Amino acid sequence: VLWVILGVVIAYLIGSISTSTLVVRLVAGTDIRRYGSGNAGATNTLRMLGTAWGIVVLICDALKGMIALWIVAAMTNTNGVALALAAIAVVFGHNWPVFFGFRGGKGIATTIGVLLWLAPLMTIIAGIICLVVIALTRYVSLGSLILTVLIPILLAIWAASHGAALWASIVLALLSFYQHRANIARLLRGQERKLFDHKSSES
Ligand code: G3P
Repeated sequence: VLWVILGVVIAYLIGSISTSTLVVRLVAGTDIRRYGSGNAGATNTLRMLGTAWGIVVLICDALKGMIALWIVAAMTNTNGVALALAAIAVVFGHNWPVFFGFRGGKGIATTIGVLLWLAPLMTIIAGIICLVVIALTRYVSLGSLILTVLIPILLAIWAASHGAALWASIVLALLSFYQHRANIARLLRGQERKLFDHKSSES
């Protein structure tokens, strides 16, 4: 139990390393959370610094999810409950980072990272569908929500063993809907920011 608690704390601390806040501070000398959607994530980094930096942040935020689970797997002998709790903890860290005044992102890149570790095939399938949705609509938030909702559905339908991955993915889907509540309201009003739309640069 002690190792599980320690693993969860470590996962939360790793999640709290807000890549987008650090990158934008270093590259542009400003706070990403005062710009665009105000979100400390890959999408808003892309709006601010362009596609390449957006992809760098996406990869780093996904990697921190994978690294956290790798560490917790080693610490707990790949205990399913520990991995599911750590997956949720690292996304909590990303969303409410202790190092950045508890104001972080919406957790999608980090969710992709942990679910790539726990359920790679379903995450890749959902990821491809998400990319198609974003390409067709230019709404990253819509693609993100479809991604997080699809993974538990795919796992429930196809995966042989439900366990850690399924429960973690259900909690992470609920968390992503909560974090995207303002995006959902804008989508319903038809006022959501579109990718590569210059008007969306304004706050
Ligand atoms: O993962 C975040 C994305 O779904 C939406 O980001 O900045 O448009 O709120 P943003």
